Amino acid sequence: MSNINPTGPSRRDAMAVAGGIALGTLAIGPYLHAAGSDQINVALVGCGGRGTGAAENALKTVKQGPIVLTTMADVFEDRVTSKLNLLGKEYAKQVEVPKERQFVGFDGYKKAMDALKPGDVVILTTPPAFRWLMFQYAISKKLNVFMEKPTTVDGPGTAKMLALAEEATKQNLKVGVGLMCRHCPARGEMFKRIKDGQIGDVLLLRAYRMKGPEATSRSKAKAFYNEENELKFQIKRFHSFLWASGGCYSDFLIHNIDECCWMKNAWPIKAQANGGRMYRFDPADGKEFVDQNFDSYSVEYTFADGTKLQLEGRIMPDCKQEFASYVHGSKGSGVISSNSHWPSGARFYKGQSFNKDDIMWQYGKEPAENNPYQVEWDKFIAAIRNDQPHNEAKRGAEASLVTSMGRMAAHTGQEITYDQILKTGQAFVAELEKLSFDGPAPVMSDANGRYPIPQPGIKKDREY
Ligand SMILES: NC(=O)c1ccc[n+]([C@@H]2O[C@H](COP(=O)([O-])OP(=O)(O)OC[C@H]3O[C@@H](n4cnc5c(N)ncnc54)[C@H](O)[C@@H]3O)[C@@H](O)[C@H]2O)c1
Repeated sequence: MSNINPTGPSRRDAMAVAGGIALGTLAIGPYLHAAGSDQINVALVGCGGRGTGAAENALKTVKQGPIVLTTMADVFEDRVTSKLNLLGKEYAKQVEVPKERQFVGFDGYKKAMDALKPGDVVILTTPPAFRWLMFQYAISKKLNVFMEKPTTVDGPGTAKMLALAEEATKQNLKVGVGLMCRHCPARGEMFKRIKDGQIGDVLLLRAYRMKGPEATSRSKAKAFYNEENELKFQIKRFHSFLWASGGCYSDFLIHNIDECCWMKNAWPIKAQANGGRMYRFDPADGKEFVDQNFDSYSVEYTFADGTKLQLEGRIMPDCKQEFASYVHGSKGSGVISSNSHWPSGARFYKGQSFNKDDIMWQYGKEPAENNPYQVEWDKFIAAIRNDQPHNEAKRGAEASLVTSMGRMAAHTGQEITYDQILKTGQAFVAELEKLSFDGPAPVMSDANGRYPIPQPGIKKDREY
């Protein structure tokens, strides 16, 4: 970090500098727009589903001022071209990504950020394993950053991310983290009311994400997918591998954990947990699932004052489905979210029974403009344009660590504390910078194509 200027520019300063250089030399660079210095250029690193969505959210802030997608990077070329086609059709006037600003490969993120100027925005939507490495480079280029959750998958990665978060604040960079529910107006109103004592002291929180298998959380052996290259396979199916994503636990459960901790206004200090693997074959073809995930997780988080957060996660088909979070207080209870992320359906009840007749407050209709995926971007870009403080990196890292703490408790069968995972937790990847499709992957399968799995009580200080 020593090469970073600690008194870095705000976007306004950066714009002034960039404009000055352009005028002084009469050489308007390829990434400076003669028309106006208030244009924000955006690079998308990780051109998958969420990256495309985040780029759209970015482009939709155009009512605040000009914003253009200028650069894209991915480890797979077809991801860049297909998502460029999609975005280019929908936002023709705001997408300018010529061939020379499309980058493919593990160093693509550097080239993409080199093509921006200080004060521009980079979107980091790769699997989370790469987040701290890319954030570090973004800070060195004085870029504002939007990064998806989880921002870390293990303790050592979190320690790095926390240090980088501080550095970003020193540099006056703006950082948004894709825990978008924090920007949901209904939940925000609920948080204020809990602080004001409307349901008394918070005594218990409960959260559920019990769904069928989602995304790439279950994987059969590599051959099934016609993918020869081990690392390509693992990156394409990143929810199946702990090093890449923290597994289905971290990727899917972090939102519910985070919104509960928000309502408690604290992070838990420890966790104990159960979890297991049940049906490790696909009933459709009888083929075995060889990924590293458990099928279900049941975690008790404890806060410093003894309050509990009980979390249930399940990725098994044809079982009861629930995707919601609840809060129980000494004078009432509440629904934080009722079905997926949004609308939240935030409301309070007298008593603990959630009887319809006992509703004592509800947020009510949540209009389209309250969609937290867009609100988080509107606020992020407003902070950049108006040079207001906006750095969610620390909170994002803490949410990610608390999430990993519950996962590690389930995978080891041990009680795990916040400090323990932060200071002595397993590092899933030794040399992230050196990953290459020509080299080995961070985890390798056995002769049967199976990957190492957690063994609670046998492997006690490592997850595999
Ligand atoms: N906030 C939300 O509700 C939400 C929703 C979906 C996904 N996400 C998060 O977004 C992230 C991406 O998820 P997704 O569903 O878009 O996955 P995805 O597989 O669709 O996209 C990830 C992309 O990153 C690329 N990639 C992988 N490693 C790379 C590297 N080193 N450099 C450049 N590109 C690389 C992949 O090729 C892929 O195109 C995850 O962290 C996920 O948890 C958040």
